[in-house]
Amino acid sequence: MKIAPSILSADFANLQRDIELVEKNGADYIHIDVMDGHFVPNITFGPAMVKAIRPTTKLTLDVHLMITEPERYIVDFAKAGADIIGVHVEATAHIHRALQMIKNEGVKAEVVINPGTSVDQILHVLPLVDQVLVMTVNPGFGGQSFLPEMMSKIEELVELKNKFGYTFDIEVDGGVDDKTIGLCAKAGANVFVAGSYVYGADDPGERIQTLKEQLS
Ligand code: DX5
Ligand code: ZN
Repeated sequence: MKIAPSILSADFANLQRDIELVEKNGADYIHIDVMDGHFVPNITFGPAMVKAIRPTTKLTLDVHLMITEPERYIVDFAKAGADIIGVHVEATAHIHRALQMIKNEGVKAEVVINPGTSVDQILHVLPLVDQVLVMTVNPGFGGQSFLPEMMSKIEELVELKNKFGYTFDIEVDGGVDDKTIGLCAKAGANVFVAGSYVYGADDPGERIQTLKEQLS
C-alpha cells in the first residue's frame, strides 16, 4: 500500500518544504500532475519542474501526463528523473508505442483511464504495464468529488491480474480522502493519490498518517 501525495495542491512557492513535509511523514511517492491546457483544461508543470524536484527527495516520482500525444515528451520526462510515467489511453492513437517508449527509457510504465473509459480499452497493453491508474474524477483539477462507480473497474483489473498472472499495481487518483480510501483498497487498489486532502490541511503530515491508518 503506497500513499502518493499530489503536489498539485501544494504551495508552489514552497514546493521543497511541502515535499520534505510529506516525505518525513511516511509518503511513498510524489505524484506530479502534468497538464497541457489541451488534453485537460488546465496548465501545470513540464520536465524542468521534474528535474528541479528530483534532487530534493528520495521518493519515487510518479509523473501523471495529462497531455495530448504524450510520446512527444516521454524521453524528456525520463531524462528529468521520473521513476514512473503515466500516459492516458485517450491522449494518443499509439498507446502501445508510448508505453514501449517509457520502458525503453528504463522507467516504469503506467496506463491511465478516464472515468468515461472502460477497462476493455486497455486489455491489450496490460502485459506491458507496471501500473494502471483508474481516475476517480475527470482529470484537470484537484478538489473534485470522488466517483464511487469507478470501483467496478478496479475489481475488473484485479480479476484480470488473477486470470493472467499480471503483477501491475493499481493506482487511484481523484477525491481520495479518509472516507474514500477504504473503498478503493477494498476494491483492490494499492497506490493512492491524494492532493487536496493532504495539502489542503493545516497539518499535511497528520493527514498522511490518517490515510495510512485507514489501510491498516
Ligand atoms: C487531477 C489530478 C489529481 C489531483 C487530485 O486531474 O490527476 O492528481 O491532484 O486531487 P484531489 O486529491 O484533490 O482530488
Ligand atoms: Zn494525477
